[in-house]
Amino acid sequence: MAPYYDFCPVSDIPPGSVKSKIIEDVPIAVFNIEGTYHVILDSCPHTGGPLSEGFLEGTQVTCPWHGWKFSLVTGELDLINSIHLKKLEWTIENNIIKVRLPE
Ligand code: FES
Repeated sequence: MAPYYDFCPVSDIPPGSVKSKIIEDVPIAVFNIEGTYHVILDSCPHTGGPLSEGFLEGTQVTCPWHGWKFSLVTGELDLINSIHLKKLEWTIENNIIKVRLPE
């Protein structure tokens, strides 16, 4: 099974914030919405826009490049729910958020 990589301390992402980082050439974003983390590939499935720089409204993020809107909870695009952003597995150990890279 793929390993987890350290992303950052939990204290770096307080509620209402997002942090992006590249690990092993993979862009990753972690959102903290009211204390719940949402960890995604920071690359829109349309043409790769940085979702971490998008507009956040509740648990919906709007891609900054062309305005596609995704649920961070389900990953689904609002209009065509067969299109998804890529959610990543994550865990917290010793107050460090750790993420598993996509296969
Ligand atoms: S790259 Fe995200 S909507 Fe086009």
